[in-house]
Amino acid sequence: MIHQFLADEAATRLLAECLAAHQPHGARVHLHGDLGAGKSTLARAWLRALGVTGTVRSPTYTLVERYPVEGGEALHLDLYRIGDAAELDFLGLDDVEGALWLVEWPERGAAALPQPDLEVALAIDGTGRRVALEAASVAGRAWLDALRRDPCLTTIPEPKP
Ligand SMILES: Nc1ncnc2c1ncn2[C@@H]1O[C@H](COP(=O)(O)OP(=O)(O)O)[C@@H](O)[C@H]1O
Ligand SMILES: [Mg+2]
Repeated sequence: MIHQFLADEAATRLLAECLAAHQPHGARVHLHGDLGAGKSTLARAWLRALGVTGTVRSPTYTLVERYPVEGGEALHLDLYRIGDAAELDFLGLDDVEGALWLVEWPERGAAALPQPDLEVALAIDGTGRRVALEAASVAGRAWLDALRRDPCLTTIPEPKP
């Protein structure tokens, strides 16, 4: 488990860049946290780190937004408004060559989702956010090990005393 304080959106962007730099191909990431915890902010910064330059739309109503990236597509899902986990079947994502899957509110579609590699939990902490990264697969453990060896996380500012 890796814990990190994110004082502002710039810190969230740094985290996204660190995560993107080491993501395994086909990485499945579940983003947990209440409304306003910063899930979409992290997802948007992550997509930017992968070179997405156009508008990053919220998938709140479409459930999924897809972006071409190196090695396939990045998929950004938000299952907050999903009625039934079976709705995921209608999105036709089974055959997608997903280079990255970012899923907000995965608990709402849990029955239809494959196992994640990484669980990201965000929470409000004063004017900033706290994040916990937990590996959920062999690939996820290797990913976090690589992150721990990379000085990029140390560039994220510590909380002010
Ligand atoms: N690390 C951070 N520090 C301070 N504010 C943040 C941080 N990350 C996101 N925010 C702010 O929190 C608000 C909600 O973010 P959002 O990503 O939409 O949350 P969620 O998708 O979890 O509902 C936005 O106004 C955003 O600017
Ligand atoms: Mg959101």
